[in-house]
Amino acid sequence: MDLHNHQRGSEQHRSTALPIELRPATVADSERLFHWANDPETRRNSINPDPIPWEKHVAWLTKRLADPDTLLLIAQVGGEPIGVVRFDLQPDHAVISLTVAPEHRGKGYARPIIETACRLVSRPIVAQILPHNQRSIAAFTGAGFQMGTKTASGLITMYYSAK
Ligand SMILES: CC(C)(COP(=O)(O)OP(=O)(O)OC[C@H]1O[C@@H](n2cnc3c(N)ncnc32)[C@H](O)[C@@H]1OP(=O)(O)O)[C@@H](O)C(=O)NCCC(=O)NCCS
Repeated sequence: MDLHNHQRGSEQHRSTALPIELRPATVADSERLFHWANDPETRRNSINPDPIPWEKHVAWLTKRLADPDTLLLIAQVGGEPIGVVRFDLQPDHAVISLTVAPEHRGKGYARPIIETACRLVSRPIVAQILPHNQRSIAAFTGAGFQMGTKTASGLITMYYSAK
C-alpha cells in the first residue's frame, strides 16, 4: 500500500455525518504546527513537556516531511485546519499521535479524526498516552482502540487492528 498516495484523498467519517478531510502537512503549516505543539496542554500531555524552540521545530518538520516512514496529516473541517495526526510507520505496526487545535478542543473532533486517519493505514496501530490524559484515552477507546499495558516509563499503550 502506498500510504503517501492514499493520504491525498479526502476521507468521509464512517460513523457520524461529520466530514473530516485529511491532507498531507507541508512547510506552509510550520507556524500552525509550532503553535499547536507549544500549547500548554499539548506540552503537558507529551513525554517531554519542555517548550519547543522555533529552530528545533523547523528542523524537526523538515526532517519529518522528507521521511517516508512519517505520515503527517492535517485534519480539516470545511477547509479549516482543526488538528494534526502523525503516524510513525514501523515494519509491522504504526504509532499514532494526535493534537486537536486548542480552539477546537472539546467539540468531539478527536474520535472521528482518529477513525478517519486509521482507515489510511493497513497495519496494526499503537497509541501511547500519559495516564492523566483521560480525554485522549476516551477518544481512542471510542475509535475502537483496546487498552494495553503500561510501558516502563508509565505510558498507557492502546492498540487498534482493522478487522
Ligand atoms: C486529547 C485531544 C486530542 C482530545 O481532543 P478533544 O477535541 O479535546 O476531545 P473531544 O472533544 O473529541 O473528546 C474526546 C473524548 O473525551 C471525552 N472527554 C472530554 N472531556 C473529558 C474529561 N475531562 N475527562 C474524560 N473524558 C473527557 C469526550 O466525551 C470524548 O469522549 P467520547 O468520544 O466517548 O464522547 C486534545 O484535547 C488535544 O489535542 N490535547 C493536547 C494534545 C494531546 O493530549 N494529544 C494526545 C496525546 S496521546
